[in-house]
Amino acid sequence: MIRVGKVRAGYGDGPDILQGIDLAASGGEIVTILGPNGCGKSTLLKCIAGFVRPRGGTVEMEGRNVGAVPVHDRIRNHGMGFVPQTDNVFSTLTVADNILLGARHMAPAARAARYEEVMSQYPSLASKQERRASALSGGERQILSLARALISSPRVLLLDEPSAGLSPAMMHEVFAAIADIRDRTGMCIVMVEQNAFEALSVADRAYVLSLGKVAIEGRADDLLADPAMRHLYLGGEPPPAAEPTPQPAAIS
Ligand SMILES: Nc1ncnc2c1ncn2[C@@H]1O[C@H](COP(=O)(O)OP(=O)(O)OP(=O)(O)O)[C@@H](O)[C@H]1O
Ligand SMILES: [Mg+2]
Repeated sequence: MIRVGKVRAGYGDGPDILQGIDLAASGGEIVTILGPNGCGKSTLLKCIAGFVRPRGGTVEMEGRNVGAVPVHDRIRNHGMGFVPQTDNVFSTLTVADNILLGARHMAPAARAARYEEVMSQYPSLASKQERRASALSGGERQILSLARALISSPRVLLLDEPSAGLSPAMMHEVFAAIADIRDRTGMCIVMVEQNAFEALSVADRAYVLSLGKVAIEGRADDLLADPAMRHLYLGGEPPPAAEPTPQPAAIS
């Protein structure tokens, strides 16, 4: 579905932020991109989406090289949906208008039908269709940005930190919604995340970036169990298992 080969990228005349990245993601899987702040996760996602033009290497979607294809064309003709890290909803527009923005290129009848389908998937939005997005909670805003990407029925969904700024409860709700999209639609989902434990819990595979390169890649459950991964990238050891309850000393 998505294949990134030896991609190098940077900004202006600055250095290469990405120094030869290889990544692949298939339909029906969530691939998460992890790594410290500033290591290039968003830059990599923007290369896949087409907002940043790689200096070298290739980006393929569904077997076709999309290196020279602009963003809007990837959305219309290559089945791509993209949710940016920040500013992903328009606060002054209603929930309905935010979602319909994702379907501007569709014929009116198809757009209306898809709108109803998306609404039926997200009852928490359906009850607030005419509210302004500014009146939504952080989690509801993230669901709204997902819904806008989904209305065009993408086959590839690119998400930049969908859990940013959310409480643990809301984060779980958003991750559950993403897992549900994968399970229901078989979509190919690439998700940049800071919350590594939680992202690995929902993802199928992961790439950890460091200094512009892929430092670690593998199955998410293998990485969760890997002591080196925990030490270097997951903020140390997970909480220790509960101590056995002390038994009262035997009375002799
Ligand atoms: N538009 C830009 N112009 C110039 N430099 C940029 C631009 N966007 C990002 N950078 C630089 O590229 C590097 C990687 O940034 P990027 O946003 O890809 O990191 P990230 O891994 O997504 O970080 P975070 O976890 O903080 O979101 C940083 O040093 C950043 O300052
Ligand atoms: Mg980022």
